[in-house]
Amino acid sequence: MPRVFVVGSLNIDSVVEVERHPRPGETLMGGDVATFFGGKGANQAVAAAAAGAEVSFIGRVGDDSGGHDYIARLGARGIDASGVTVTPGSTTGHAMIALDARAENTIIVSPGANARLSAADLAPLETMQPGDVLLAPLESDLDVIAEAVHIAHSRGARVVLNLAPFAELPAEVLALADPVVVNEHEAEQLEASGVSPDSLLVTLGSAGSRWGSIEVSAASVAHVVDTTGAGDSYCGTLAATLAAGLDARTAMQRASDAAGRAVEWVGAQPN
Ligand code: RIB
Repeated sequence: MPRVFVVGSLNIDSVVEVERHPRPGETLMGGDVATFFGGKGANQAVAAAAAGAEVSFIGRVGDDSGGHDYIARLGARGIDASGVTVTPGSTTGHAMIALDARAENTIIVSPGANARLSAADLAPLETMQPGDVLLAPLESDLDVIAEAVHIAHSRGARVVLNLAPFAELPAEVLALADPVVVNEHEAEQLEASGVSPDSLLVTLGSAGSRWGSIEVSAASVAHVVDTTGAGDSYCGTLAATLAAGLDARTAMQRASDAAGRAVEWVGAQPN
């Protein structure tokens, strides 16, 4: 079975529906607060498992009900959560999400325990083998992510690096990823940083995705409800499909289909 190791974040998402997003200094009335499991790392892990990969997760939660519930949830999804450390004195990461009438969101993340991820947590990566895939978004400590990339690459594994939220990593770290995955906004930020990775996959929303010379259309979606986590579904499915040894185009097509399904439910993960 293809193996995907995810190094990343786990958040509890609080979602409030609003007619439109507030301007700075403005107060708006919204709907009821709905709570979901989220965090880019965990969302991607759930998507990779749903796509058929054997998934191991490395991350941190707080010593609170959200953290303990999250570990149980990963286990119920068939994800190896033995690499998730309960961190005394920290709270589980929390995301405040406003979802507008066009299904677009704004997100503020309070990282909590995610910020305490350390290089010592990466020991499970020493078991990686050629053919395995490391998948990492950037909601955790960047030095730890860079170290994870180096370990996975030294083990002969493939690295899929999702620059979300955008942050600058050394060019030599990005050079080890195949591919670096960004959306259009992150692609602009990457370009402005002056780094252009050899293997760059850009997701373009309803215009599909592009990886070098390969272009794939977006899935057609009947009713967009919530775009939160669609990019994570893309990345997780991409990593699982690459780990299964399938070609880049097939991986992109499956990832696009998964992202298309992900906008049809509220919340970042399927129930
Ligand atoms: O990509 C969506 C995710 O971003 C949400 O689940 C939220 O937790 C933030 O990490």
